[in-house]
Order: sequence, then structure tokens, then C-alpha cells
Amino acid sequence: MSLLSATLARVKPSPTIAVSTLAAELKAAGRDVIGLGAGEPDFDTPDHIKQAAKAAIDAGKTKYTAPDGMPELKQAICDKFARENGLSYSPAQISVGTGGKQILYNALMATLNPGDEVIIPAPYWVSYPDMVLLAGGTPVAVECGLETGFRLSPAQLEAAITPKTKWLIFNSPSNPTGAGYTRDQLKALTDVLMRHPHVWVMSDDMYEHLVFDDFRFVTPAQVEPGLYDRTLTCNGVSKAYAMTGWRIGYAGGPQELIGAMRKIQSQSTSNPCTISQWAAVAALNGPQDFLAENARLFQRRRDLVVEMLNDAPGITCPVPDGAFYVYPSIAGLIGKTTPSGVTITDDETFAKALLEDTGVAVVFGAAFGLSPNFRVSYATSEEALTEAGRRIRTFCATLS
Ligand SMILES: Cc1ncc(COP(=O)(O)O)c(C=O)c1O
Repeated sequence: MSLLSATLARVKPSPTIAVSTLAAELKAAGRDVIGLGAGEPDFDTPDHIKQAAKAAIDAGKTKYTAPDGMPELKQAICDKFARENGLSYSPAQISVGTGGKQILYNALMATLNPGDEVIIPAPYWVSYPDMVLLAGGTPVAVECGLETGFRLSPAQLEAAITPKTKWLIFNSPSNPTGAGYTRDQLKALTDVLMRHPHVWVMSDDMYEHLVFDDFRFVTPAQVEPGLYDRTLTCNGVSKAYAMTGWRIGYAGGPQELIGAMRKIQSQSTSNPCTISQWAAVAALNGPQDFLAENARLFQRRRDLVVEMLNDAPGITCPVPDGAFYVYPSIAGLIGKTTPSGVTITDDETFAKALLEDTGVAVVFGAAFGLSPNFRVSYATSEEALTEAGRRIRTFCATLS
């Protein structure tokens, strides 16, 4: 009898984590590596949030809480949804998990039966399809290329829906493209969903606060109140508050679904770290003005990176609306050869050759379900970005 389960055979490890690990290994071996693979802000958790965590420890708030979050945090989340999204949830409609990742995973585990389909616009965050597979469902990737600005069109959505569709996973601004949906673009999608009452919406709003220019963030249940009863609005403190290591994510949704997610969490991990929950209360209830400052900083980096990449021969880089990623195309480089004799056949060979020849670590597009592209995370210093841009440009210019 095999030790490992059949379920395990269906999934692959996260390729983004694999790239960060490889870059770290090369660095440890003495190579001059610039890592553009990581999906986390490069600045520290704000001080008032850290202080709240220290105070929680000193006050002995170190015990178990309710499995899906303590009342103080659930209330802070209800207030956040009302204040920022115009969404009214009661604490019984809130689930708090160990990162946004656990929230999405719990929801899929709680709802999917074999054969159930989940529509995932591609390129997508790497974990969506594998989470669906782990939960026993069938991911249905719908390719959304440059021609639609990496956005799902209403016609594509309509065509992808079948009687077996259980969820649409919606992510704006997106990892890996940074593409965001305006109110009108989102309304066109929710109009389609209103015609298919069996389809639920899992909105992953993780990058809500990282938006640029005059882009206004909106979420499906806000744009179409008719979807409120079949939408799970997911969010977290990881990206907005530079709290990736604290592991707090949350969602608002119908009570039956939230209860089902609680059941799964109570039999697996139980409550997310109590101290992190107190830190998240401080994050959500505390000052919010630095969020806009951070977005401005990221916008400057975005502009720098987009300009540098478009300057590299063979690379085309669209301008994203938010998050801290760009997703340039390398269509102009396919078939070319590096000075050491490696032919660029796809985005994976490109990323590997780039890392080996220049020490710049990026993630290849196939990992996100749309090729030939690569993802750059610009959550790093302008100095590192400038040097990485120089190396990428030189690398592309030497291909023949
Ligand atoms: C789109 C998206 N959703 C969810 C997550 C998970 O966030 P967390 O670190 O809170 O689990 C990430 C993290 O990279 C993400 O990019």
C-alpha cells in the first residue's frame, strides 16, 4: 500500500515558494542574487500593531480563542467591511483563519464535491487550482490574455458556466498581473452571475489597498447586492499592513457557509494565533493613513519597473492597476538563444536562464496558467529594482 494519498498526487508544491527557495540557496552559495519572486511587502509591520501584540502577551492574552476568531476581532472586521466596502455583516457571518490562504481553503473544503467545477480566470494566484484539487473539485481555468488586459470578459464567464459550476474565484487587483476591475467591468460580470443562481462567488480582495492612479477598488457583493447571499468576501491583513508572518485572514459571508468553515477549522488548526488576532484588531481599528502612503510608494516602483521592462528588447509590459506585481510578455524572445547556448523555448527556460546568467529571480508564467510571461514582484527597494532592470535589459540584448 502506498504511503501517500491519491489526493496528494493531484497537487504540486507552490512554484512561487520554490523560486524564493532556489534564490535563497544561490545567495547562500555566494551568488549575487536579486529576488523578485516574493509576494510580500518589504517594509516592517507598523509599530502600533507590534505594540498591541506585545501588550496582549503581557496581559496574558495567550490562550485559545473561539476556533474561527475572537469577538473583538470579528467586530473589527464587521466595522472594516461597513466602513470600506459598504457591506453589512454581523459577527456570526465572519470567519478568521491563519492567513487568507486558510480562509479560501476552508471554504473550498466545506463546499466542493467530486465533479464540482470552480472557474478560475488565468493567469491566477498559484494556489487556487491546487486548493480546488485538494478539496476534490475540478478547476476550470479560463485564459484571460493581454487583449482583455488580463481580465475575464462577460462572454468568457458565460461560456465557462455549466450546471456543475459551484464557484467563480475572483481576484482584483490580481496576483500575478496587478489588473483590477472597475465598477463597470465588475458589474458586467455580476450581471452574468445574476442569470446563474447556482454559482457562488469567492472574492479574494487581498490587494484592496494597493491600488494606483485613480483606480477605485470595488468588490462583487458591493457592486451587486443581489449576490450578497452567495458571495464570500475574503481579505486579510498580510499585504495591506505588512503582516505576512502574523497569519491572519478573514471573510464575510452567509452564516451557513461560515458555520461550515468553522467546523473544518475547529477540527484542523483551531483558532489562529491569539496574539496575532490582537495585532489584527489594532491594524483594523487603528490609523489607516499609511495605507495610501504605501500605495504611493508602490506606484512609484511600478512606474520604474514598467518603464525598465518595456525598454528591454523583446519584452512587453502592461501597466497594472494595483498589487505589487507586473506580468510582462516574452513573446518577442521565444526561439532566441543565450550566449551560453540555451534556447528560450518558453517562460520556464527564460526564467531559469535569467537566474543562472544574471542572478535575477522571477517566476515563470506557466506557474500562473498563462504563457509566455513572467511575474516580477516589485516589493523591494528601488535600488534593487534598478539593478535588476539593468541586468534584464542586458540579458535580453545579448540574446540572438
Ligand atoms: C491573491 C492572494 N490571495 C491570498 C493570498 C494569501 O495571503 P495570506 O498570506 O494571508 O495567506 C495571497 C498571498 O500571496 C495572494 O496573493
